[in-house]
Amino acid sequence: MYDLMIVGAGPGGYVAAERAGRAGLSVVLFEKDSLGGVCLNVGCIPSKALLNSAKLYRHAVDSKAFGITSENVSFSQDTVVKRKRKVVRKLVAGVRNQMKEANVEVVMAEATILPREEELFRVQAEDTVYAGKHLLIATGSVPIVPPITGLADAMGKTVITNMEILDLTEVPEKLVVIGGGVIGLEMACYYQSVGSEVVVVEMLDHIAGNVDPEIGKRLQNVYEKQGMVFHLSAQVTEVSDNTVKFVKDGETQTVEGDYILLACGRRPATAGFGLENLSLEMERGRILVNDKLETSVPGVYAIGDVIGGHMLAHVASREGEVAVNHMLGIDDKMSYAAIPSVIYTDPEVAAVGFTKEELQEKNIPFIEVELPMGWAGRYQAETERGTGICRVLFDKETKHMLGCHLLTPYASEMILAFGIMIEQKMSMDEMKRTVFPHPAVCEIVREALFQIN
Ligand code: NAI
Repeated sequence: MYDLMIVGAGPGGYVAAERAGRAGLSVVLFEKDSLGGVCLNVGCIPSKALLNSAKLYRHAVDSKAFGITSENVSFSQDTVVKRKRKVVRKLVAGVRNQMKEANVEVVMAEATILPREEELFRVQAEDTVYAGKHLLIATGSVPIVPPITGLADAMGKTVITNMEILDLTEVPEKLVVIGGGVIGLEMACYYQSVGSEVVVVEMLDHIAGNVDPEIGKRLQNVYEKQGMVFHLSAQVTEVSDNTVKFVKDGETQTVEGDYILLACGRRPATAGFGLENLSLEMERGRILVNDKLETSVPGVYAIGDVIGGHMLAHVASREGEVAVNHMLGIDDKMSYAAIPSVIYTDPEVAAVGFTKEELQEKNIPFIEVELPMGWAGRYQAETERGTGICRVLFDKETKHMLGCHLLTPYASEMILAFGIMIEQKMSMDEMKRTVFPHPAVCEIVREALFQIN
């Protein structure tokens, strides 16, 4: 009998397992594919390995303005993919080790939740039935496959998802991306940089989802200048073999690609593992939880993509910690006030807190400071033709920071500091008295602070 059984070893499940194991709970962790889940195997990590190769390649071929000319620069997708696999293998081995050190029993098999018996939860994996006092569901999400004519038939052939796109050993000549959200943009950015002709077909009138609209627009301009084509407000009606048919402004158009990347969002993975045996309260396909990550059934917790909402690896990890703390009787609760989000394009997009549009919608009075990234010395020193911007939003009355939005290299690494300012509700004085390193791109936010009296 275990204190805690966890289904799913992504960044939600394995972090929770590690924290619980280290705190002395007896933990069993079930995983049907690979430790690390989508994030580590076919998501965040491998895509970053690819994107870094693309950045190095682009710098090698296009650094004249910095005094560098190069000849015969070549690119090997095969090497890039092999390196990516090595990175993933290392990190998966790291997670396995972490589990061992935390005394977590790892069961690499498909788990099925069975009906409860004598107050204990039960999970079957292969021929063994495991019983436990607490159950944590961290099964993640699966790609959304919209009901588009011909799409289902072409899946796994010309139509691929985040899984297959990271393993292509040749750069396609033409790539069509359906969905201009996070996955779509990161992969479009990669393949455009390494030589594909990329076309993005997006049903909304803008790319990058809820990102600050001006930042989304500027990112689009950066890529358009490199030759990427965007069809916005485009309704895909049919996919067959290599062709995507869509309707835009009442007109039907077609685009062709060697591959078609489907990146239309993800939905919680709630089917096929006996979840119905728990009769949890659900809403539109996601498991409902409170701020301690408890479901409607005492003793059952759910974290990560399976509860919907932010659907980000780092959110899942933190939710796992909150759930485990609650089991341990430690006072903790989940806060979504300062969740950083990043799109790892070049330049990067990073944001934390509210957007201007969200504040307007909520009728929260605010002060806005928008600055060109060029105000930061290091940005000027390292960037040519940069169009980066920084928008910081402050509460009109308290002057607390409410949101910070960046389009710049290093955005992913600097956003944490501004998340802390928001989460900790730092006063304007406290923020102004914080010493920033110089020269650093993050100084742009210090400039923004001093625009406020
Ligand atoms: P997404 O929700 O970011 O974007 C999906 C896009 O597809 C939206 O812009 C939507 O309007 C569009 N779309 C939907 N149906 C369409 C259709 N029929 N035709 C054309 N466009 C259509 O989802 P995405 O990019 O698939 O990513 C999935 C999840 O993975 C997200 O929750 C994201 O947060 C996470 N992720 C996070 C990353 C990061 O933090 N850097 C990187 C990659 C993924």
